[in-house]
Amino acid sequence: MSDQNPAIETQFKEPKRWRVHHLMQAKQAGRKITMITAYDALTAPIFEEAGIDTILVGDSYGNVQLGYGSTIPVTIEDMERATGAVARSVTRPLVVADMPFGTYEASPQVAFDNAARLIRVGANAVKFEGGAELADTVKLLTQAGIPVVGHLGFTPQSENALGGPRMQGRGTAKQKMIDDALALQSAGAIAIVLEMVPGPVASEVTKALDVPTIGIGAGPETDGQVLVWSDMAGMTDWVPSFVKRFGEARAVLRSAVEDYAAEVKDGTFPGPENYKTN
Ligand code: KIV
Repeated sequence: MSDQNPAIETQFKEPKRWRVHHLMQAKQAGRKITMITAYDALTAPIFEEAGIDTILVGDSYGNVQLGYGSTIPVTIEDMERATGAVARSVTRPLVVADMPFGTYEASPQVAFDNAARLIRVGANAVKFEGGAELADTVKLLTQAGIPVVGHLGFTPQSENALGGPRMQGRGTAKQKMIDDALALQSAGAIAIVLEMVPGPVASEVTKALDVPTIGIGAGPETDGQVLVWSDMAGMTDWVPSFVKRFGEARAVLRSAVEDYAAEVKDGTFPGPENYKTN
Protein backbone atom coordinates (compact mmCIF):
# COMPACT_ATOMS: atom_id res chain seq x y z
CA MET A 1 0.00 0.00 0.00
CA SER A 2 1.57 3.28 -1.10
CA ASP A 3 1.44 6.42 1.06
CA GLN A 4 0.42 8.55 -1.94
CA ASN A 5 -2.68 10.69 -2.03
CA PRO A 6 -5.45 8.27 -3.22
CA ALA A 7 -6.60 10.79 -5.84
CA ILE A 8 -3.17 10.62 -7.43
CA GLU A 9 -2.78 6.87 -6.93
CA THR A 10 -5.58 6.17 -9.41
CA GLN A 11 -3.68 8.02 -12.14
CA PHE A 12 -0.09 7.02 -11.43
CA LYS A 13 0.73 3.37 -10.95
CA GLU A 14 3.79 3.14 -8.72
CA PRO A 15 6.37 1.29 -10.83
CA LYS A 16 8.30 -1.74 -9.61
CA ARG A 17 11.27 -0.23 -11.34
CA TRP A 18 11.52 3.41 -12.42
CA ARG A 19 12.05 3.87 -16.13
CA VAL A 20 12.37 7.04 -18.15
CA HIS A 21 8.69 7.14 -19.20
CA HIS A 22 7.57 7.12 -15.55
CA LEU A 23 9.00 10.62 -15.13
CA MET A 24 6.60 12.10 -17.66
CA GLN A 25 3.71 9.97 -16.33
CA ALA A 26 4.39 11.28 -12.82
CA LYS A 27 4.34 14.87 -14.06
CA GLN A 28 1.06 14.29 -15.87
CA ALA A 29 -0.48 12.76 -12.73
CA GLY A 30 0.81 15.52 -10.45
CA ARG A 31 2.80 12.92 -8.51
CA LYS A 32 5.96 14.66 -7.23
CA ILE A 33 9.23 12.95 -8.13
CA THR A 34 11.80 12.29 -5.40
CA MET A 35 15.51 12.37 -6.19
CA ILE A 36 18.50 12.21 -3.85
CA THR A 37 22.22 11.95 -4.46
CA ALA A 38 24.26 8.84 -3.65
CA TYR A 39 27.83 7.90 -4.47
CA ASP A 40 28.35 4.41 -3.07
CA ALA A 41 26.90 0.96 -2.44
CA LEU A 42 26.44 1.64 1.29
CA THR A 43 23.98 4.54 1.16
CA ALA A 44 22.16 3.94 -2.15
CA PRO A 45 20.27 0.81 -0.92
CA ILE A 46 19.14 2.74 2.17
CA PHE A 47 17.64 5.39 -0.09
CA GLU A 48 15.99 2.68 -2.18
CA GLU A 49 14.51 1.16 1.00
CA ALA A 50 13.19 4.63 1.89
CA GLY A 51 11.24 4.65 -1.40
CA ILE A 52 13.25 7.19 -3.40
CA ASP A 53 12.31 7.26 -7.11
CA THR A 54 15.55 8.41 -8.70
CA ILE A 55 19.14 8.48 -7.51
CA LEU A 56 21.52 11.09 -8.83
CA VAL A 57 25.16 10.11 -8.79
CA GLY A 58 26.02 13.79 -8.72
CA ASP A 59 29.44 15.25 -9.32
CA SER A 60 28.85 16.73 -5.84
CA TYR A 61 30.71 13.45 -5.13
CA GLY A 62 33.78 15.70 -5.39
CA ASN A 63 32.66 17.95 -2.52
CA VAL A 64 30.89 15.34 -0.43
CA GLN A 65 33.28 12.40 -0.54
CA LEU A 66 36.51 13.32 -2.29
CA GLY A 67 37.30 16.42 -0.23
CA TYR A 68 37.37 18.88 -3.14
CA GLY A 69 36.16 22.46 -2.76
CA SER A 70 34.10 22.25 -5.95
CA THR A 71 32.87 19.79 -8.56
CA ILE A 72 35.45 20.92 -11.12
CA PRO A 73 38.27 18.41 -10.33
CA VAL A 74 35.93 15.39 -10.62
CA THR A 75 36.94 13.05 -13.46
CA ILE A 76 35.07 10.56 -15.62
CA GLU A 77 36.94 7.77 -13.79
CA ASP A 78 35.63 9.10 -10.45
CA MET A 79 32.09 9.11 -11.84
CA GLU A 80 32.45 5.63 -13.34
CA ARG A 81 33.46 4.20 -9.96
CA ALA A 82 30.66 5.95 -8.03
CA THR A 83 28.01 5.23 -10.68
CA GLY A 84 28.94 1.55 -10.87
CA ALA A 85 28.75 1.20 -7.08
CA VAL A 86 25.31 2.81 -6.94
CA ALA A 87 23.92 0.99 -9.98
CA ARG A 88 25.06 -2.40 -8.68
CA SER A 89 23.37 -1.84 -5.32
CA VAL A 90 19.83 -0.74 -6.27
CA THR A 91 17.07 -2.07 -8.53
CA ARG A 92 13.97 0.16 -8.24
CA PRO A 93 15.23 3.75 -8.59
CA LEU A 94 16.27 5.27 -11.90
CA VAL A 95 20.01 5.97 -11.70
CA VAL A 96 21.13 9.26 -13.27
CA ALA A 97 24.87 9.94 -13.49
CA ASP A 98 26.44 13.37 -13.77
CA MET A 99 28.90 14.00 -16.57
CA PRO A 100 31.82 15.83 -14.99
CA PHE A 101 33.38 19.09 -16.13
CA GLY A 102 35.30 18.77 -19.41
CA THR A 103 33.69 15.54 -20.58
CA TYR A 104 30.83 16.80 -22.77
CA GLU A 105 31.29 20.47 -23.74
CA ALA A 106 33.74 20.11 -26.67
CA SER A 107 31.50 18.18 -29.06
CA PRO A 108 28.56 15.77 -29.21
CA GLN A 109 31.00 12.97 -30.12
CA VAL A 110 33.15 13.57 -27.02
CA ALA A 111 29.98 13.69 -24.93
CA PHE A 112 28.77 10.41 -26.44
CA ASP A 113 32.07 8.63 -25.71
CA ASN A 114 32.01 9.71 -22.06
CA ALA A 115 28.26 9.17 -21.58
CA ALA A 116 28.70 5.64 -22.91
CA ARG A 117 31.24 4.97 -20.14
CA LEU A 118 28.64 5.87 -17.50
CA ILE A 119 25.89 3.87 -19.19
CA ARG A 120 28.23 0.85 -19.43
CA VAL A 121 28.71 0.81 -15.64
CA GLY A 122 24.97 0.92 -15.05
CA ALA A 123 23.58 4.47 -15.30
CA ASN A 124 20.08 4.67 -16.78
CA ALA A 125 20.56 8.29 -17.87
CA VAL A 126 23.20 11.01 -17.78
CA LYS A 127 22.93 14.64 -16.68
CA PHE A 128 24.97 17.63 -17.79
CA GLU A 129 24.88 21.35 -17.21
CA GLY A 130 23.94 23.87 -19.88
CA GLY A 131 21.23 25.17 -22.18
CA ALA A 132 20.45 25.50 -25.90
CA GLU A 133 24.15 25.42 -26.83
CA LEU A 134 24.09 21.71 -25.89
CA ALA A 135 20.94 20.83 -27.85
CA ASP A 136 22.92 18.97 -30.55
CA THR A 137 24.63 16.93 -27.85
CA VAL A 138 21.31 16.04 -26.21
CA LYS A 139 19.99 15.05 -29.65
CA LEU A 140 22.93 12.77 -30.50
CA LEU A 141 22.89 11.01 -27.14
CA THR A 142 19.11 10.60 -27.24
CA GLN A 143 19.27 9.14 -30.77
CA ALA A 144 22.01 6.80 -29.57
CA GLY A 145 19.75 5.51 -26.78
CA ILE A 146 21.21 7.50 -23.89
CA PRO A 147 18.54 9.43 -21.96
CA VAL A 148 19.67 12.92 -20.92
CA VAL A 149 18.65 15.08 -17.97
CA GLY A 150 19.41 18.80 -18.37
CA HIS A 151 20.60 21.15 -15.62
CA LEU A 152 19.81 24.89 -15.69
CA GLY A 153 20.03 27.75 -13.19
CA PHE A 154 23.12 27.72 -10.99
CA THR A 155 25.42 25.23 -12.69
CA PRO A 156 28.28 24.48 -10.27
CA GLN A 157 30.77 23.51 -12.98
CA SER A 158 30.54 27.14 -14.23
CA GLU A 159 30.95 28.69 -10.79
CA ASN A 160 34.00 30.65 -11.95
CA ALA A 161 32.04 32.28 -14.78
CA LEU A 162 28.91 32.76 -12.66
CA GLY A 163 30.75 34.37 -9.74
CA GLY A 164 29.93 31.65 -7.21
CA PRO A 165 26.66 30.09 -6.06
CA ARG A 166 24.06 32.73 -6.97
CA MET A 167 20.39 32.66 -7.88
CA GLN A 168 19.87 32.51 -11.66
CA GLY A 169 16.98 33.43 -13.94
CA ARG A 170 16.06 36.79 -12.42
CA GLY A 171 14.79 39.66 -14.63
CA THR A 172 15.55 39.30 -18.31
CA ALA A 173 17.39 36.00 -17.69
CA LYS A 174 14.01 34.35 -17.09
CA GLN A 175 13.09 34.19 -20.79
CA LYS A 176 16.51 32.73 -21.64
CA MET A 177 15.97 30.01 -19.05
CA ILE A 178 12.58 29.15 -20.54
CA ASP A 179 14.09 29.12 -24.06
CA ASP A 180 16.98 26.91 -22.89
CA ALA A 181 14.59 24.50 -21.21
CA LEU A 182 12.43 24.27 -24.35
CA ALA A 183 15.53 23.72 -26.53
CA LEU A 184 16.70 20.87 -24.27
CA GLN A 185 13.22 19.34 -24.30
CA SER A 186 12.97 19.57 -28.12
CA ALA A 187 16.35 17.89 -28.39
CA GLY A 188 15.06 14.98 -26.30
CA ALA A 189 15.89 15.75 -22.64
CA ILE A 190 13.78 13.58 -20.31
CA ALA A 191 13.84 16.00 -17.34
CA ILE A 192 15.53 19.21 -16.29
CA VAL A 193 17.13 20.02 -12.93
CA LEU A 194 16.61 23.65 -11.89
CA GLU A 195 19.13 24.79 -9.27
CA MET A 196 18.90 28.07 -7.33
CA VAL A 197 16.12 29.64 -9.36
CA PRO A 198 13.43 31.95 -7.85
CA GLY A 199 10.26 29.95 -7.15
CA PRO A 200 8.02 31.88 -9.59
CA VAL A 201 10.59 31.49 -12.39
CA ALA A 202 10.92 27.74 -11.73
CA SER A 203 7.13 27.56 -11.79
CA GLU A 204 6.99 29.24 -15.22
CA VAL A 205 9.68 26.94 -16.62
CA THR A 206 7.82 23.94 -15.22
CA LYS A 207 4.53 25.02 -16.80
CA ALA A 208 6.23 25.63 -20.17
CA LEU A 209 7.54 22.05 -20.34
CA ASP A 210 6.01 18.62 -20.94
CA VAL A 211 8.99 16.93 -19.30
CA PRO A 212 9.39 17.24 -15.53
CA THR A 213 11.55 19.72 -13.67
CA ILE A 214 13.43 18.62 -10.55
CA GLY A 215 14.22 21.54 -8.26
CA ILE A 216 16.94 22.28 -5.75
CA GLY A 217 16.59 25.73 -4.24
CA ALA A 218 13.85 26.41 -6.79
CA GLY A 219 10.70 26.44 -4.65
CA PRO A 220 7.76 24.07 -4.35
CA GLU A 221 6.30 24.19 -7.86
CA THR A 222 8.80 22.04 -9.72
CA ASP A 223 7.67 18.50 -10.57
CA GLY A 224 10.14 16.97 -8.13
CA GLN A 225 12.89 17.80 -5.65
CA VAL A 226 16.52 16.75 -5.33
CA LEU A 227 18.86 17.19 -2.37
CA VAL A 228 22.43 16.16 -1.64
CA TRP A 229 22.03 13.31 0.84
CA SER A 230 24.66 14.42 3.32
CA ASP A 231 23.07 17.88 3.55
CA MET A 232 19.51 16.66 4.12
CA ALA A 233 20.53 13.92 6.57
CA GLY A 234 22.52 16.27 8.79
CA MET A 235 26.01 14.94 8.05
CA THR A 236 27.46 18.44 7.64
CA ASP A 237 27.68 21.46 9.95
CA TRP A 238 26.56 24.00 7.36
CA VAL A 239 23.90 23.69 4.69
CA PRO A 240 22.53 26.22 2.19
CA SER A 241 19.26 27.88 3.25
CA PHE A 242 17.26 25.90 0.67
CA VAL A 243 18.18 22.61 2.36
CA LYS A 244 16.09 21.19 5.20
CA ARG A 245 17.90 18.94 7.70
CA PHE A 246 15.68 15.89 7.99
CA GLY A 247 17.97 14.06 10.41
CA GLU A 248 21.10 14.22 12.54
CA ALA A 249 23.14 11.47 10.90
CA ARG A 250 26.49 13.01 11.90
CA ALA A 251 25.54 13.09 15.59
CA VAL A 252 24.21 9.51 15.45
CA LEU A 253 27.41 8.23 13.81
CA ARG A 254 29.70 10.21 16.10
CA SER A 255 27.89 8.92 19.17
CA ALA A 256 28.22 5.29 17.96
CA VAL A 257 31.95 5.75 17.35
CA GLU A 258 32.42 7.48 20.74
CA ASP A 259 30.69 4.55 22.47
CA TYR A 260 32.85 2.07 20.56
CA ALA A 261 36.08 3.90 21.45
CA ALA A 262 35.05 4.19 25.11
CA GLU A 263 34.23 0.48 25.34
CA VAL A 264 37.53 -0.50 23.74
CA LYS A 265 39.37 1.68 26.24
CA ASP A 266 37.50 0.42 29.32
CA GLY A 267 37.60 -3.22 28.16
CA THR A 268 33.81 -3.64 27.85
CA PHE A 269 34.17 -4.49 24.17
CA PRO A 270 34.60 -7.20 23.07
CA GLY A 271 32.25 -8.84 25.56
CA PRO A 272 31.67 -12.60 25.93
CA GLU A 273 29.02 -12.48 23.16
CA ASN A 274 31.54 -11.04 20.69
CA TYR A 275 34.19 -13.78 20.71
CA LYS A 276 34.66 -17.53 20.97
CA THR A 277 36.56 -19.29 23.69
CA ASN A 278 37.43 -22.32 21.58
O1 KIV B 1 25.96 17.08 -8.33
C1 KIV B 1 24.87 17.24 -7.75
O2 KIV B 1 24.65 16.80 -6.62
C2 KIV B 1 23.84 17.97 -8.47
C3 KIV B 1 22.62 18.37 -7.71
C4 KIV B 1 22.96 19.51 -6.81
C5 KIV B 1 21.49 18.68 -8.58
O3 KIV B 1 23.99 18.25 -9.62
